[in-house]
Amino acid sequence: MIISTNDVLFEEIQSETLVVAVSKHAENTSKWEAFLKNFGEHIAEWVKSGDISSELKKIVKVPVANNDVVKRILFVGIGERKQLTQENIREVFGLVGKELLASKPESLAIWVPSFSTESISDIDVAYLAAEGLGMGSFKYEGYKTSSNVPDYYLPAIELLTDEDSDEIVSYFEVGTIYADAVNEARILVNTPGNVLTSTQLGEYARELGNSYGFETEILGKKEIEELGMGALLAVNQGSVEEPRLIVLKYQATEKWEDVVALVGKGITFDTGGYSIKTKTGIVGMKGDMGGAAAVLGAMQIIGELRPNKNVIAVIASTDNMISGNAFKPDDVITSMSGKTIEILNTDAEGRLVLADAVTYAKQQGANYIVDVATLTGGVITALGYDKTGALTNNEEFFETFMESSLETGEFTWRLPLTENDKKRIRKSDVADLNNSPGSDGHMIFGGGFVGEFVEDTPWIHLDIAGTSDTRAAYDFGPKGGTGVMVRTLATLIERMADEE
Ligand code: BES
Ligand code: ZN
Ligand code: ZN
Repeated sequence: MIISTNDVLFEEIQSETLVVAVSKHAENTSKWEAFLKNFGEHIAEWVKSGDISSELKKIVKVPVANNDVVKRILFVGIGERKQLTQENIREVFGLVGKELLASKPESLAIWVPSFSTESISDIDVAYLAAEGLGMGSFKYEGYKTSSNVPDYYLPAIELLTDEDSDEIVSYFEVGTIYADAVNEARILVNTPGNVLTSTQLGEYARELGNSYGFETEILGKKEIEELGMGALLAVNQGSVEEPRLIVLKYQATEKWEDVVALVGKGITFDTGGYSIKTKTGIVGMKGDMGGAAAVLGAMQIIGELRPNKNVIAVIASTDNMISGNAFKPDDVITSMSGKTIEILNTDAEGRLVLADAVTYAKQQGANYIVDVATLTGGVITALGYDKTGALTNNEEFFETFMESSLETGEFTWRLPLTENDKKRIRKSDVADLNNSPGSDGHMIFGGGFVGEFVEDTPWIHLDIAGTSDTRAAYDFGPKGGTGVMVRTLATLIERMADEE
């Protein structure tokens, strides 16, 4: 439950925990005097002495005496108010979310304007707080028999503001919609490959599609064969699991035009195939469907918020296994587009399944394509674990994307794709393309290969191999799946809808 008051009245707070921002000059916070009057002048002393810290991201929990309702205050350091960014606010609420997970209060009041600045309104704070709280309080349940924790923890929320309380509540709700979708994607990424098979991923997508009224098609092996998806089938060839092509259509306008395709890599486990991974490199490959999770998370937000933009989600899903039937290096395969591919490395399977997914999206009328994939170790070498790598063939589309990425704080950096790179992707004695031109700069070859099937359609490629899961807990959550790009993809669609 989320409620809001049109006035910041400390004596009327109904929640057991109160969240208060403390800036370097806390005394300048509007209504600070009223706050001290209600909760005790000694707080001013504690702020002065530093016992309550104003340092950014420092959280100090103080019990409240002689108050029947408010039991404790979480003082959240925000540093110099003038320097506070939107991402900082999201981050501190991520940390507050972690604190909630630990202490599990039933109700939480947020003194919203204590966080706002000249350029960040109460509405912005409400939205950022909801996102931060929702993501920060996430915990993956897993399969421990002793575990009884919820996936994430949100108490009843009370928002104290002097602005329009209805608007504040609705922005907070949008923030929780974003966070919920991120957490869903995280669960998908964390789910092991023996549980989340392509069939199961298809069932998950079917349920999602049904609950939002998307036109939903989950194609099985036979239909994939009929479509001639030789690339997806080659990757699936060594598996006992059937492949799936997952298609969700969200139609916002009367005509199916101006369509954005979100295309995801849904490899439920990547052994590398005959170009087998090492015993250390293979661990964690249950997360090779992070692109699919990002697309499904974004579709969940789209289903909730219903922006005015036509969107098709296409996910190609299989595991990449070894058996007597598996595809091999030197094989030549024919993709759905008709282009032939010489297999040099069976571990470069993501680009193969994306090739057919992109061709399908184009056939379904895609005017813009964004593909998202845990595609290469190369992106980690180039950019580390905290940046998503991008390629594009269209400056204007990419600019809109980058605005979205800056808004969500999901850092993305573009790499070049040159004619020389394309030449190397097209170099083969026996086929139109090869799937592994070399290990130098190979993030570019991975994405560039997908680009061969996109052709002239405005396109953005996102390589999330580094960012889709994390080895260590961070401000927005625990280690494991991050749900990266869920928020940026949804924001991109919202921005494109607003441009109309
Ligand atoms: N799924 C991997 C990429 C990956 C690596 C994801 C590390 C997450 C963490 C992908 O299918 C792959 O194996 N790529 C190869 C391509 C190479 C063989 C051309 C790689 O990057 O090593
Ligand atoms: Zn691989
Ligand atoms: Zn892979």
